[in-house]
Amino acid sequence: MTVFFVSFWERRIIIPFRRGTPGWLITTIKTKTYATDTYQRTIAKALKGKYALGAFNVNNMELIQAIVEACEEEKAPLILQISKGARQYANPVYLKKLIEAAVSLSNVPIAVHLDHGDTFDLCKQCIDEGFTSVMIDASHEPFEKNVEICKKVVDYAHKFNCSVEGELGHLVGAQFDEGEEGGAHSTSGHYTNPDEAVKFVKESGVDSLAVAIGNSHGAYKFKGEQHLDLERLKAIKKALMDAGLGDYPLVLHGASSVPQYLVAEINKYGGKMPDAQGVPEADIEVARRVGCTKVNIDTDLRLAMTAGIRKVFTETPKEFDPRKYLGPARACVKDLVRHKVKDVLCCAGHAFD
Ligand code: G3H
Ligand code: 13P
Ligand code: ZN
Repeated sequence: MTVFFVSFWERRIIIPFRRGTPGWLITTIKTKTYATDTYQRTIAKALKGKYALGAFNVNNMELIQAIVEACEEEKAPLILQISKGARQYANPVYLKKLIEAAVSLSNVPIAVHLDHGDTFDLCKQCIDEGFTSVMIDASHEPFEKNVEICKKVVDYAHKFNCSVEGELGHLVGAQFDEGEEGGAHSTSGHYTNPDEAVKFVKESGVDSLAVAIGNSHGAYKFKGEQHLDLERLKAIKKALMDAGLGDYPLVLHGASSVPQYLVAEINKYGGKMPDAQGVPEADIEVARRVGCTKVNIDTDLRLAMTAGIRKVFTETPKEFDPRKYLGPARACVKDLVRHKVKDVLCCAGHAFD
């Protein structure tokens, strides 16, 4: 049994009487844990080994099971990330308990991350609940305000060994490439600027940076040619290195590749997803080698789940036992995650480095 990673609530045991900390956080006895200092070491190992950690969005039991089982079988470290919407949908306590179950049944390192935290208060709640890292997304704010909000979260999070991800730039996707220079839809208006990235990291103190290089959320990422601005990614990485920030960890949001076999399955079984397009896996591979250590994947999980469910509904319309369609859907997600960690992120086999 692995004991060197600390699950996301273990930290509470050493600060048991903090005001507002629910009792269950301090009384839970854990044998396996995911420490945030180890989280940082895991990120450092990933940078060194040129592999990436998949940050998979979860909001229900089947997703958690599929992801963790695939990573367990492939010996891959992983990040489970929870959005504000996921917390609203499933209830934070349900998610915590489900993840607690996953941790107890597996040996691989599991980090728990807040995805797109939009306020200091939400980040604080998650830090207080023991998340190993949080994202504060103030990327819609002007630069100085973004720095100020991030810094406030960093100052709080670091007291509890929680890592913080910030974002600079806007995830508008490459369809906006052709706007006028400086205009609302121009590259310079939305993509992360390397020099600003340095200033942002230095001033805010964030531990990792989500970049905007033509990436965007969802299943419709590109019109026409699919591409990320990988030269810009290299320039950001170099600027951070040259500024003395070392091999600084970058984060790639919107990293779903929207596998066409899943889109075809969905469309075959009654769905309607014309022109769905994602990031080519070859681009993700380059991003990984350049130093995108955390790669965010949500849409692909949704597609796999939907394809699995639609197939059962179409082929066996009389079926009404949820296990009969959620089971196959879970298997589809598991296959997808296995492929990601083995063939794209290359973190398979690195759980116990
Ligand atoms: O980037 C957003 C993630 O895919 C989470 O989406 O807010 O619908 O849970 P959500
Ligand atoms: P996708 O929509 O490409 O899966 O991106 C997910 C994401 O960035 C979550 O933060
Ligand atoms: Zn995102």
